[in-house]
Amino acid sequence: MSEKNKGAIEGGNHAALWSGRFKEGPDGAAVEFETSIYVDERMAQDDIKGSIAHATMLGEAGIIPKEESLQITGELQRIGEDLLSGKLKIDYSAEDIHSFIEGVLTDRLGEAGKKVHTGRSRNDQIALDERLYLRHAIPDLQRRIKTVVSVLVSIADKHKESLLSGYTHMQRAQPVSLAHHLCAWAWMLQRDWQRLEDALGRINKCPLGAGALAGSTLPLNREMVAESLGFEGVTDNSLDTVADRDYCIEFTAAFSLIMAHLSRFCEEIIIWSTEEFKFITLSEKWSTGSSIMPQKKNPDFAELIRGRTGKVYGNLIALLTMVKGLPLSYNRDMQEDKESLFDAYDTVYSCLEVFTHMIGTAQWNEAKMASSCVGGHSNATDVADYLVRKGMPFRTAHGVAAGAVRIAIEKNCNLEDLDITDFQRCSPLIEKDIFEYITPDGCMKNRKTTGGPAPEEVAKQIASLQDWINQ
Ligand code: ARG
Repeated sequence: MSEKNKGAIEGGNHAALWSGRFKEGPDGAAVEFETSIYVDERMAQDDIKGSIAHATMLGEAGIIPKEESLQITGELQRIGEDLLSGKLKIDYSAEDIHSFIEGVLTDRLGEAGKKVHTGRSRNDQIALDERLYLRHAIPDLQRRIKTVVSVLVSIADKHKESLLSGYTHMQRAQPVSLAHHLCAWAWMLQRDWQRLEDALGRINKCPLGAGALAGSTLPLNREMVAESLGFEGVTDNSLDTVADRDYCIEFTAAFSLIMAHLSRFCEEIIIWSTEEFKFITLSEKWSTGSSIMPQKKNPDFAELIRGRTGKVYGNLIALLTMVKGLPLSYNRDMQEDKESLFDAYDTVYSCLEVFTHMIGTAQWNEAKMASSCVGGHSNATDVADYLVRKGMPFRTAHGVAAGAVRIAIEKNCNLEDLDITDFQRCSPLIEKDIFEYITPDGCMKNRKTTGGPAPEEVAKQIASLQDWINQ
């Protein structure tokens, strides 16, 4: 008996729900191989909730006597409470969470307990449990996304004027601000939130009543169950209902994108906390040291998030591969969905929390960030734009500005340090006012296009992100 089994006080030693047609019990190793209770136990309360709705309907529809329906629902309620209080412990010798709960119910109620599974199969039951679980687990995750975004927005709000080089190809490109940069990540995470919301909309139909695959000969009232569980309706086809796991895939794909975003951001944090960049200093609480090199302070949490991203992608691939060769309808392969889905969920959930702490406690080195806008000629586009304002075609202006860059490279200085005579050699249209036009601050602040880095534009983004957070 495993450590976990020792606490079992009820529901143990039941024959499998399906044992009737077998002369022999299964081999011990077979049982161990097929059990899923270690994975599906987290849906215990959802399973109970679904069974209560089902048993209530059975009573209302006259399929079982009302008194027995009441007995069942009352006892299921108690089982739920006993599990929460610890009075009842999961028996890990049960095949799955459905068998365990039905077993405890039958132990406690006798004959009435045996009626809870009337007109139901574990195939539609598991499809229901997963939906019920996701309906509360996903909003929990969405709250975590909003927390990260609100931390990013509050840092951004303080750094609308803090210069930072924008990069393409990891080469200095054009000056932006830290606020602008952080808002970029915030919008990505906001879309991740929306993706989860969309996917939630698609699981809002109740699968119960699909039975094993072909519905039921009993007069089940599916609509009543759906309504009592807060679904917008019932699923449309019983085969489809028990045969697909598209929702597990869809959520895990959404988790994968969250991880992609966190992982990319972590990569930046890792680079930014190097001696070479030093844009950011992570707090000691969210860094680690080295067992040999006394001086080290490492961004391990960012690296772990980046590392765990692969695990989430792996879960997505596992799910896609699980369904790719499955004929209709239910196949036992599908039991494997939960391990991937839950592991991906747990990983994203903890990464979002760790990321929030790590970023929220970091310090931003404004001087270092601003220095990234000096050198690298990231104001060259602004020289070209200056000429465009004076009527020069952009392609010509691009060439003129490139000429100025060449002179700066030869003189080993920045564009803004060239003499006016150097500029005028490139084009007589250039006058002294060029210098105020191409300061890093000017480059950032003049980019007033919607969504651009100018502080007043970023302030609008911050306000709309804030509105979304408060929704
Ligand atoms: N543990 C099973 C699963 O997750 C429940 C459904 C079992 N159905 C069956 N026909 N064996 O898929």
